[in-house]
Amino acid sequence: MQEHAWLRDGAWLSLRPVRAADAEPLRRLIMELPPRERRWRFHGGVNGLSAGHLQALVEPGPDLLAWVASAEGRLVAEVRCAIDRAGAAAELAVMVTPAWRRRGVARWCVAAISERCRQRGLRWIHGSVLADNAPMLALARRAGCYCAPSRDDAAVVTVERRLASVRSWR
Ligand SMILES: CC(C)(COP(=O)(O)OP(=O)(O)OC[C@H]1O[C@@H](n2cnc3c(N)ncnc32)[C@H](O)[C@@H]1OP(=O)(O)O)[C@@H](O)C(=O)NCCC(=O)NCCS
Repeated sequence: MQEHAWLRDGAWLSLRPVRAADAEPLRRLIMELPPRERRWRFHGGVNGLSAGHLQALVEPGPDLLAWVASAEGRLVAEVRCAIDRAGAAAELAVMVTPAWRRRGVARWCVAAISERCRQRGLRWIHGSVLADNAPMLALARRAGCYCAPSRDDAAVVTVERRLASVRSWR
């Protein structure tokens, strides 16, 4: 699988499943995020990545869709969906390198992976977003997600969206 898109500013983006050779570029992508954003992405401090953690990121199991986006010869974003045990929903996470923000990269990646989840028969996509993560909450709202404070954790907002009702918003 490989998908391509022109961003609204004319940049050319490719999206494909992550592979073992992406370990180092992916490590760079993660470490380029400011510490606060690493916390937003991983829900905890990440000061470095062990070989084992990296390997787990680039060798997803069968219940995980993990894709990377590249542009101008470098990796600029990662998006993943972990399929829940019941097989009806998937948990979404996405990150975009700071230099490529507000160009529609996350929006396109999330739309593409949501469509793949829908094709696999999933009905819902959801995520746990830290309550101070304004950019991700704005993206979720823009994607048509319902956002509500988590019942279990006041620091978390639960975002979710029915995939059956997806209209293309790329
Ligand atoms: C959240 C994140 C993925 C957004 O990536 P992005 O590529 O900049 O997002 P897009 O350009 O696709 O934005 C799509 C829409 O989301 C909203 N949005 C995104 N970032 C925003 C921001 N900083 N402020 C306000 N709205 C924002 C806007 O509605 C935007 O549409 P517009 O640009 O037409 O107004 C990015 O900021 C990021 O990687 N953050 C750090 C990691 C993280 O927190 N990941 C989420 C953990 S689940």
